[in-house]
Amino acid sequence: MNRIEWNDKLKIGLEEIDNQHHELVVIYNGLCDAIESRAGSAETLSILQQLGHYTSVHFATEEALMRMMEYPDYEAHKKAHDALIEELRRLVRLAEELPQGVNFQLVYLIKQWLSQHIMETDVQFVPHFIARGIKPTLQKKGWFSKFNLFSA
Ligand SMILES: [Fe+2]
Ligand SMILES: [Fe+2]
Repeated sequence: MNRIEWNDKLKIGLEEIDNQHHELVVIYNGLCDAIESRAGSAETLSILQQLGHYTSVHFATEEALMRMMEYPDYEAHKKAHDALIEELRRLVRLAEELPQGVNFQLVYLIKQWLSQHIMETDVQFVPHFIARGIKPTLQKKGWFSKFNLFSA
């Protein structure tokens, strides 16, 4: 019941970022399914940790891009990421302590921040990136090679 339906409202228009957001939603929905089917707390906790790990990977990607593109609101966006990671860690700790493990209340909080951050904060860097020459369909490998930051 707390699943996130992936739709156009969640797409910000940069393919690589949209793919990563989609992956986050898939992991998140897997967590909902696990809770609904009353999977054991070890399994739900492991999905929650997976969500935390992929969130870190995703945030690192966005932060690298924002720095490369000299995004003026980098600091504020980075702060929002740090706060979300901290919140996710808090939820993992809470889930570890609760006898029933992860529950729908925790999951609802994750749903809120995930969709809100994408629709309200991530969308803001898109016009800046496009103005700086990022192609909406360019994949991560392409961005990095374009800016010669990581040589093979
Ligand atoms: Fe994002
Ligand atoms: Fe972000």
